[in-house]
Amino acid sequence: MCDQIQEYFDYVLPLVKESGKELLTAENYEVETKGFVYDLVTIYDRKIEEILINRIKEKWPQHKFIGEEESEVNGIKKLTDDPTWIIDPIDGTANFVRGLKITCVSIGLVIKKVQMLGIVYNPFLDELYTAIKGQGAFLNGKKISTSGQTEIGQTIFNYEMSLARRPKYYDLYMYRFKHLIKVIMGFRSLGCAVLGLCYVADGRLDAYQCDGLYPWDAAAGVLIVREAGGFVCDSRGKEFNLMDPNFLATATKSLSDQFMVIERKADEERINDRNASKQ
Ligand code: IPD
Ligand code: CA
Ligand code: CA
Repeated sequence: MCDQIQEYFDYVLPLVKESGKELLTAENYEVETKGFVYDLVTIYDRKIEEILINRIKEKWPQHKFIGEEESEVNGIKKLTDDPTWIIDPIDGTANFVRGLKITCVSIGLVIKKVQMLGIVYNPFLDELYTAIKGQGAFLNGKKISTSGQTEIGQTIFNYEMSLARRPKYYDLYMYRFKHLIKVIMGFRSLGCAVLGLCYVADGRLDAYQCDGLYPWDAAAGVLIVREAGGFVCDSRGKEFNLMDPNFLATATKSLSDQFMVIERKADEERINDRNASKQ
């Protein structure tokens, strides 16, 4: 199994780097929206996903794929036990179109529903994050680990606020924000879920959170955080579910526990206020 995963890794890694480099020369392209004003797509999102799927299929025709752009057309496929590549061809498309260099290509491999491999590449900074289950996490080949932070008051927290734009999530995000902002050291919102996770893995951030994302936002980054010694759980206190990711990723388990106490308080307040307003 180990050799097999290494073979997958060695084959896919150059594909991710090559396809990511396409972004460096991108110009004069159209930007379309996919339902929500903040949900953007370009020809590069489609092209990179197509390259990755086609090149992997050539080599392993029996493998399955869950790609963001393909899922947009056909719906998200159910995860089976088969080797499944989960692809976000550009995470942070809105950053990319604005020239903000916080954007990346992300691919994860899941086998028997277990995250086995993750590769994330930001071509603008030439930063490559990688992990194979059980073998640690790496940035440009150098082993990384989380900040080891255990004090919530010392935390640089990346709270991915963009989904608060959706009425379904507005209250959830705002109540938690109101409570968390009082206790953390610093707050960020980078607009790229995958790199948010990678930056927890390498200690640039202490914690990252987003509710309501998709499997391709989590497939590579969650493994990278865990392999770097970090802790990932579901922000609602349930077991983390890759196919319905609501994640809180922290440098340590102790930090996660502190966040959870505050978030449960915020969630409780939100539910009480909602019930009171109905009466
Ligand atoms: C987006 C990014 C962003 C998150 C958005 C996602 P995309 O992914 O991960 O951080 O806030 O909700 O849609 O569309 O750039 O792949
Ligand atoms: Ca994307
Ligand atoms: Ca994404």
